[in-house]
Amino acid sequence: MLLPEHQPLPVDGPIHGAQHVVRRAALAQALRDRLGVGTGLVLIPSGEEKVRNRDNLFPFRADSDFWYFTGFPEPESWLLLHLQANGSLESHLFCRPRDPEREIWDGIRVGPEAAPARFAIDHAHDTAELDAVLAPLLAEAEALVLPAARDAELDARLRGWMGVVRAKSRAGIQAPTQIVDLEAFSAPLRCIKDAAELRTMAKAAHISAKAHCAAMQASRPGKAEYHLESVLLSHFRAAGSQSVAYPSIVASGPHSCILHHRAGHRILLPDELVLIDAGCELDGYASDITRTFPANGKFTPAQRDTYQVVLAALDAATDATRPGAMFSAPHEAAVRVLAEGLLDLGLLPEQSVDAVIETGAYRRFYMHRTSHFLGLNVHDVGNTQLALRPGMVLTLEPGLYIRPAADVPPAFWNIGIRIEDDAVVTEHGCHLITRDVPVDPDEIEALMASGDQ
Ligand code: GLY
Ligand code: MN
Ligand code: MN
Repeated sequence: MLLPEHQPLPVDGPIHGAQHVVRRAALAQALRDRLGVGTGLVLIPSGEEKVRNRDNLFPFRADSDFWYFTGFPEPESWLLLHLQANGSLESHLFCRPRDPEREIWDGIRVGPEAAPARFAIDHAHDTAELDAVLAPLLAEAEALVLPAARDAELDARLRGWMGVVRAKSRAGIQAPTQIVDLEAFSAPLRCIKDAAELRTMAKAAHISAKAHCAAMQASRPGKAEYHLESVLLSHFRAAGSQSVAYPSIVASGPHSCILHHRAGHRILLPDELVLIDAGCELDGYASDITRTFPANGKFTPAQRDTYQVVLAALDAATDATRPGAMFSAPHEAAVRVLAEGLLDLGLLPEQSVDAVIETGAYRRFYMHRTSHFLGLNVHDVGNTQLALRPGMVLTLEPGLYIRPAADVPPAFWNIGIRIEDDAVVTEHGCHLITRDVPVDPDEIEALMASGDQ
């Protein structure tokens, strides 16, 4: 039977095979440099489809490392990189074979025949051949790099593979002596984004920012949290993003003080805040934006005063985000401003700002960190003990969360505010890629007044 021709895969995005070749070469070089080995193997699984219920599956999304080094979108696939003693690097992709019967139901597979040319891979095989291809390579590799101690099934297969090679030690065959977690090598590469990645992330950020604008404009008392979520999701998909980067948080009134409240059925009331933390995923790359606004389009005085403190903390964190600064610098800058603000608002007993910071008194109202790396994962890989470098992308997301309490004036009860932008570290500072949705309270009120209220 003649199988249908391939259309270009929509998930190919702007990142092509040539870039994956460069990334794999950089990985191989890092291995040689840091492990000091001549021969080695890198093994990365794509992951498998997971059952949601009975015969109904969750949408498949490839493992981030697998995606980063291959751009191959199908489940049950593996990347095997072979560093050879002569210094060359060979790439093997294992993927599902073509299957006319299954493809009628599930869609066209790339198959091992077409994969090398389409994905800039040296050799492709049926996934069923993995053990057979791996065994002789493992017998002459000094190091094996793979996602270690993360997945019980993979760990069990690793024991099996190693058992086979170790059993041949009397025949003079030496099993790899170094088994190393892939993240130690993939994280430093993934942490510095190339131009194509930055373009994709800016596009994802733009889509998400516009979705936030639409949700603000759709807000009014009487609507449910899920109404605003539906506006976000509609914009994400209409703009071509494949997924949310994480479950959307739409948190009204008291829910705004629950950090990861999923959009629910609560009805928005006048004079309360709505906190939306939502972002789309585009071609595998996350965006992550939070905005907080009044349900009825007008901040109360206590809401506005608190909002200004969080916005000032975001400004301070932005100023602190530059090459050479430690990853913790934006957090420390934000905490200082939030501590000052909590004293000014009368939410903490009189004391010095330093005392608020040293005793951690601010944590009652600000209990999370200000930043995480952003990339293929919303909480992306990267070493948070090191200094920032150009090409890194991190979030800046200060907040204040004020629950009802006897020592808190009622005007502040249930004010939960977080403002979150995505920052690209540049040569001299940082660039916020999420400012297509306003943060200024006057601009937010003006945008909401121009909506369909
Ligand atoms: N959206 C999850 C976070 O901001 O970390
Ligand atoms: Mn975040
Ligand atoms: Mn967020």
